[in-house]
Amino acid sequence: MKDRELFAMAQEIVPKAYAPFSKFRVGAALLTKSGEVFTGVNVENSSYGATICAERTAFVKAVSEGHREFEAIAVATDEGEALPCGICRQFMFEFGGDLRIITSEDGDHLHIHTLKELLPGGFKLNQ
Ligand code: THU
Repeated sequence: MKDRELFAMAQEIVPKAYAPFSKFRVGAALLTKSGEVFTGVNVENSSYGATICAERTAFVKAVSEGHREFEAIAVATDEGEALPCGICRQFMFEFGGDLRIITSEDGDHLHIHTLKELLPGGFKLNQ
């Protein structure tokens, strides 16, 4: 799957975000190494700290279905670019620092980072 297609899937899911408090809607599309895509949106809560970001929603969906190996995640919003927050970076790091993160300011030019670039020295317990 092309980065552009994955980003388009992230854009497509943005309207499903539940963001009545921040009004900042985010969509993510997570590509597994086996070629499946899991999407996710941010789901906010009246108890603000209980909010879950789009990236973690997508990961939780994929991991719940038995996936453990991931290629890339695209993140789109309805208001410019968003790089994953610190909690999401650590959450995703559990599954490998080589994950490619695809974002865009304008929906046209894509920006690619690896997770380990965005989270140098990420924490991981030995298994
Ligand atoms: N948010 C995400 O879903 N992903 C990001 O990469 C950045 C932040 C959400 C959390 C919250 O619902 C809203 O955006 C504003 O912080």
